[in-house]
Amino acid sequence: MKNKTILITGGAGYIGSHANKMLYEKGYDTVVFDNLVYGHKKFVQWGEFVLGDLADYDLLDMVFKHYSIDAVMHFAAYAYVGESVTNPEKYYYNNVVNTLNLLKAMRMHDVNQFIFSSSCATYGIPQKIPIPEDHPQMPINPYGQCKLIVENVLRDYADAYNLKYVSLRYFNAAGADPDGKIGEAHDPETHLIPLILDAASDQNKHISIFGTDYNTPDGTCIRDYIHVNDLAQAHILALNYLESGADSDVFNLGNGNGISVKEMIETARQVTCKTIQTIESPRRPGDPDSLVGSASKAKKILGWRPQYTALKNIIETAWHWKLKQLS
Ligand SMILES: NC(=O)c1ccc[n+]([C@@H]2O[C@H](COP(=O)([O-])OP(=O)(O)OC[C@H]3O[C@@H](n4cnc5c(N)ncnc54)[C@H](O)[C@@H]3O)[C@@H](O)[C@H]2O)c1
Repeated sequence: MKNKTILITGGAGYIGSHANKMLYEKGYDTVVFDNLVYGHKKFVQWGEFVLGDLADYDLLDMVFKHYSIDAVMHFAAYAYVGESVTNPEKYYYNNVVNTLNLLKAMRMHDVNQFIFSSSCATYGIPQKIPIPEDHPQMPINPYGQCKLIVENVLRDYADAYNLKYVSLRYFNAAGADPDGKIGEAHDPETHLIPLILDAASDQNKHISIFGTDYNTPDGTCIRDYIHVNDLAQAHILALNYLESGADSDVFNLGNGNGISVKEMIETARQVTCKTIQTIESPRRPGDPDSLVGSASKAKKILGWRPQYTALKNIIETAWHWKLKQLS
């Protein structure tokens, strides 16, 4: 029997490349579609690669004609929250309009299984912690708005066109492939762990702590970090879920543990055995005190079992990868 073929948009990026590796290891065929604006060709070590932009409908049409795609995992998006505030047009076009292109190409080629990278940014300021899936969604920036719009589009397309989808609302993706083959390399980098590890590996650098007067035990922001391989695992479970004929649904993906910025830096000091210089800076606008998700629905319905529940283990994988880049 032919292996199933999964189209992975944004598969040269951080999370998509880890999903690609895991799909390959589980016996799926994969086609990575990425414009490499933020992705890395060297991260595409498994399956086929198509260099292209989701704005190019004709190319998408050719991809669906050429490969017999069974399902789509849609990671491709711009993901800089601050930039989405200063340049919303860039975000609405790429994260919404280009997603419509992709959905149209799927529909034209009778592909109806879709897994979407949504975000905890759709919730906005949380009214309760941990945040369940039925928490009100009131995004406070265009990035979160785009994710919410696509979630709503998916609901309407499911009703009208028989699309079957799973939206996965990630909290903060973290860590790296434990084999050290791929990792996190955003440019510019805005994510906390890579920035901390930069400061650990270069004593001329420091990590800025934005705000020490939040309503949290140590005054710094609290977030929920989930290992990138646990996210990849959840995508495969979501795919199996759709393959079983189950209904479209939405799941949070997080560890359910709140980690403060100071705790993260302290744990990174222990893992790396390095001095990490910090600078305390004012709050950034729009950062909630605490964002922690409840993933009990994904555990119950998808059977998801995150493996990296200890922060130390998450940082270890990121540090292992960082040291490999430096050697
Ligand atoms: N990293 C996180 O913590 C996090 C949290 C919540 C949600 N997400 C979402 O997960 C997804 C993946 O995030 P990531 O951290 O891996 O980001 P990333 O920037 O590393 O990967 C995104 C990839 O999409 C590609 N891309 C963007 N626009 C494209 C287009 N028009 N055509 C083709 N390729 C395009 C980029 O080149 C890049 O390789 C994104 O949708 C992001 O919004 C990420």
